[in-house]
Amino acid sequence: MTKTIGIFVGSLRKDSYNKLVAKKFAELLPEGYEAKFIEIGNLPFYNEDLEVEGKVPEEWTRFREEVKSVDGVYFVSPEYNRSVPAVLKNALDVGSRPMGSSVWGGKPGLVVTVSPGGPGGFGANHHLRQSLVFLDVPTLQQPEAYIGGIMNLVDKDGNIADNTVQFFQMITDKYIQFFEKLTK
Ligand code: FNR
Repeated sequence: MTKTIGIFVGSLRKDSYNKLVAKKFAELLPEGYEAKFIEIGNLPFYNEDLEVEGKVPEEWTRFREEVKSVDGVYFVSPEYNRSVPAVLKNALDVGSRPMGSSVWGGKPGLVVTVSPGGPGGFGANHHLRQSLVFLDVPTLQQPEAYIGGIMNLVDKDGNIADNTVQFFQMITDKYIQFFEKLTK
C-alpha cells in the first residue's frame, strides 16, 4: 500500500525557498510513496479555552485528521530569529492537543532547514527537534539537512543545482531506510 508523507512548510511566503525545496523533496520520493502538503497557515492560534468550551475551530479538526492520515512527516522550514517560525510551532501545538490525543506520536520525521544564511537554519532545526522529541516523533539523525546559502543553489527559474538535488536524494534514501526500519 502507498505510504503518505505529510509535508509541513514553515514559510507562508509566495516565493518561499523552503516551498521550492519541499517540492523537490516531494518529487524525489520513491515509488510506493506519495507526498501530501498539509496547510498550516490557516490554523487559528492554539488556545486551550476553545477545547474546554467545545469551540474547537474546524481548521484544527481538519488539520488533526490530515496529520492522523499520513504515515511519515517532513518539516521544511526557515529559521526566524534563531528558532522555529511561529506558524510551524503553532501547527505542532494544535496537533499535540487535547492532552492524550496528540496526532504526532510515532510518525517517522525528517527535518530540513533552508536559509540564505551560512548556518542553514541550524537554530530552527534544533529547536524543532527539541519539540519533536517531546511529541514522540523519531527523526532521521544523519545526514542532517542544513541548507545554507540557498540563493546560490537556485537559478532565476527556480531550478535547484544538480549537486544539491543529489544531496536531497541521498537524504531521501536515508529517510526511506529509516522509515522502513521503524514501520516494518
Ligand atoms: C529571518 N531570516 C533569518 N535567517 C536565518 O538564517 N536566521 C534567522 O534567525 C533569521 N531570522 C529571520 C526572522 C524573520 C522574522 C524573517 C522574516 C526572516 C531570513 C530568512 O531565512 C529568509 O527570509 C528566508 O528566505 C525565509 O525562508 P523562505 O520564506 O524563503 O522559505
